[in-house]
This record gives sequence, C-alpha cells and structure tokens, in this order.
Amino acid sequence: MPLIAMFSAQPYDRRFFETANARHGFHISYHDVALSAESAVLAHGADGVCAFVNDTLDAATLEALSAQGVRFVAMRCAGFNNVDIAAAKRLGVAVVRVPAYSPEAVAEHALALLLTLNRRTHRAYNRVREGNFMLEGLLGMTLHGKTVGVIGTGRIGLATARIFRGFGCHLLGEDRYPCDDFTALGGEYVSRECLLAESDVVSLHCPLTDDTRYLIDAQALAAMKPGAMLINTSRGGLIDTRAVIESLKARRLGGLAIDVYEQETSLFFRDHSSDIIDDDVFQRLVTFPNVLITGHQGFFTQEALTEIAEVTLDNVACLMRGAPCANRVGD
Ligand code: NAI
Repeated sequence: MPLIAMFSAQPYDRRFFETANARHGFHISYHDVALSAESAVLAHGADGVCAFVNDTLDAATLEALSAQGVRFVAMRCAGFNNVDIAAAKRLGVAVVRVPAYSPEAVAEHALALLLTLNRRTHRAYNRVREGNFMLEGLLGMTLHGKTVGVIGTGRIGLATARIFRGFGCHLLGEDRYPCDDFTALGGEYVSRECLLAESDVVSLHCPLTDDTRYLIDAQALAAMKPGAMLINTSRGGLIDTRAVIESLKARRLGGLAIDVYEQETSLFFRDHSSDIIDDDVFQRLVTFPNVLITGHQGFFTQEALTEIAEVTLDNVACLMRGAPCANRVGD
C-alpha cells in the first residue's frame, strides 16, 4: 500500500480523509507543517505527498521530494498556482488535483460575504449584543435590479451567477471561453472595461495565472463604478491589495469582501491571536469598516470536504494503477 505524506493537515483533514480512506486502506501520515523545501524531509519513504493551497511546491521543494522517491503530488484543492508544473514534469512527478468539489460551496460563501458586507450584519450582530440598536452606519443597497460582474464564468462563477440571478440582478460576464449556461441565465458577455464600469458588484472567479495576477490594479479600480463592491473568493494575487487600500481611502471603492489574500500563506489556517502580526498591509485592511475578510473558508462545507477527500484518494488510486487520470495537470 502506498504511503502518502499529507502536509498542512488540520484535524478536519484527518477526519474526512480517514473516512474516505476506508475504501482504499492507504497509509497516510499527517503533518501539520506546511510543505516547503525545508519540510520536504518529512515525506521520507512516502510514495507521494498531499498538499493544499498554501504549501510551497516550487522547483526546490519538488527536487527535494523527488530525490526522496516521491512520485506524485495530490493537491486536495482546485487551484495549483503554487505548484511549479514545469519542474514537476521535468522530474517525472505526477500532479493531480480536485478540479470541482461543490462549486456551490464557494459560490454560497461569496454571497455570504457580499450580503454581510452590504447589510453590515457582522456589525449589527455586535451592536445588538451590546444593547445598541442604532441603525446609523448599517445602510446597505437593495441587490434586486443591480448589476453584478462575474469575472471567470467557470464552475464557481456560474454557480455564483445563478444565485445572483435569483436575487434579480443583471449579470455581466468576462471569460476567455464564454459559456452558453451563463448566457442562458440572461448573462451578457462584455469587455472587462464595460464590466468594471457598469457593475455595482464585481465578483472574481478566475484562476491565478500570469495573465490574471493583479487583474484588479489601480487602473481597474479607477475604471470601476464609484461605490461598487469587490468580492474575491478566488486567489489573493488577483488583487493589488495596496491599490485597493488607496481606493478605499479615497472613498471610491464601496467595499471589499475577501476570502483570500495575496500574502495569506504566513497567516491563514493558523491561530495568530496572541501574535503581533507583521503584515502592515493586512492590518490596515482590517481597520476599514467596509472591509470583510474570512480566512479561505469558501470550500469549508461537509459536502466539499467529503468530495475533496474522496476524489484526492481516487486520484492516487488511479496513479497507482498506472491508469490515465482525468484530474492530472500539466499533461
Ligand atoms: P474553472 O476552471 O471552472 O473556471 C475558471 C474560469 O476562469 C474559466 O471559465 C476560465 O476560462 C476563466 N478564466 C481563465 N483566465 C481568465 C482571464 N484571464 N479572464 C477571465 N476569465 C478567465 O474554476 P472554478 O472551479 O470555477 O474555480 C475558480 C477559482 O476559484 C479557482 O481557480 C480557485 O483559485 C478558486 N477557489 C477558491 C476556493 C476557496 O475556498 N475560496 C475553493 C475552490 C476554488
């Protein structure tokens, strides 16, 4: 039976993987540390590693893994922007991922963020607990009839668009590969300029690539409708956070809700409540009353975790059999 070394393993990973592994009986060693060139030694004797969004799988890490006999990387997530695919290919290390697991889980979180940011329910919750029933500062906008711009109309973007449609919003979309399902919802594909200029809410659902890094920069922010809200549940690097701070300070961007942050690797999935956080950009961000941040929990539902564990282990089983794996990347 193959040995899989899992990195960045949280207690919930262990629970869901142990259940899914009942069908396979693989040996899994769980390590709570993130994968990097330094921690790769923990994979000694393993056939493969299982990694997550904030693990570092650059050439140095992959070389260290490969030198120890690691033959595959099983990502337990959809995005693989943190994997040097060219290096993996050169080293003969197979990379598999979970391309789709409950896209609705992330879409619903995007909506949870927007609804909270818009109606300030996070602030209202605290006020009511303190006996403060004043409404000043809680004013939102009615979403019905507003225009929502979805950048990236793939699985999650489409699921998000469906919910917005249910709210009675007009849908604008931007994608390199327009999809009929989006237009069937009444969505209209337009240029990025048009989408930014006309949307009351912009929601990002494209992957992080060289093309999409800082897709929302100072120029894009200046092109947005004043007072519009920006939602990012995709990857932090899609947004130039410093430019967003300037736009918020200028009272131009109406609000920001993010589940991902460009420098999240050193922060997210850990308890830093007793630490002094050195990231001044992040700390500035949390001071705005119209900024809402969650720590990469869009995927965090029972259904999604079940699917992630099952598909990850099925991917490994497929590689072990030497069978072609549809979820392999970089081929
Ligand atoms: P997908 O592959 O189904 O859709 C992505 C869409 O983006 C595709 O239609 C693609 O054509 C489009 N796209 C690519 N480059 C583009 C560009 N330059 N401009 C406009 N559109 C572009 O992926 P899916 O499943 O919808 O996931 C989207 C992203 O969500 C993932 O890449 C991942 O980063 C993020 N994600 C976040 C999670 C969370 O917990 N917050 C969980 C799962 C995924």
